[in-house]
Amino acid sequence: MELNELLERKSLAIDLAHRAGKIIKETSGNMKLVDKKCSFADLVTESDKAVEKMVFEEIGKKYPNDKFIGEESASDAQWTTDPTWIIDPIDGTTNFVHNFPFSCISIGFTFNREPCLGVVYNPHFDKLYTAIKGQGAKLSVGGGPPTKIHVRPCPSLNQALIVSELGSQRDEDKKECIFKNMESVGWACHGIRSLGSAALNICTVACGELDAFFEFGPYIWDICAGVVILREAGGHFCDTEGGPLDMQGRRFIAASSEKLALEIVPKLIVQLKLK
Ligand code: IPD
Ligand code: CA
Repeated sequence: MELNELLERKSLAIDLAHRAGKIIKETSGNMKLVDKKCSFADLVTESDKAVEKMVFEEIGKKYPNDKFIGEESASDAQWTTDPTWIIDPIDGTTNFVHNFPFSCISIGFTFNREPCLGVVYNPHFDKLYTAIKGQGAKLSVGGGPPTKIHVRPCPSLNQALIVSELGSQRDEDKKECIFKNMESVGWACHGIRSLGSAALNICTVACGELDAFFEFGPYIWDICAGVVILREAGGHFCDTEGGPLDMQGRRFIAASSEKLALEIVPKLIVQLKLK
């Protein structure tokens, strides 16, 4: 796809991210739960649904032939080589429900199944992360000019600050995988953090605030935008066993370098395959 077509889509994505952000910020902490998905900790609110509807409708007006994958209304859609928007209307829904200010909208776009545009917006801190494949990654804070972001060099795991999550599944296999791996990685690095949003965790690595993120559980809509942002910021994505990233595999390491990612691999002593 031509750069000008991606730039056009990026402008639309930024505009919609700001509109979505207004809804997210205004309703954070006072939105009724409408559903629970795989467990009592897997939450959905009216805002998740309203934001996704608004974003899909607006994109559909301008790009009627583009396809969609979205957490709330199009999670089963086939991911094809067509131009495809892959969107999480609110990533960090648990934070959103509790009004902990780390929720965002994540808008990814793929062509030929290659992630080529990513926009992540946290309205609570007015932070907008953007990237187009081959054009670098940028961060704009408080509506200011976008500035290039880059991962920070981290010489080894024993000097790294790592982020990971409990996630929202509540079964025994997942529990063992999460706690055994957190213990193993956590004891080998400076510390483990959890922001509660996969998209923001990735962006935090992309702008050099944390060194790596690993998780078993997130879906393609949680990571698609972040994949472009982190890669363009100089970072590395791989599967939790060190192979190539499977965007639909629901497990990954997102690190400031391949070297750091490969140091984390052997510490992930419980590997899960998720559907
Ligand atoms: C979740 C968040 C959370 C991560 C889960 C995701 P949601 O997405 O990104 O940090 O641990 O794996 O599913 O449900 O808030 O959109
Ligand atoms: Ca979500």
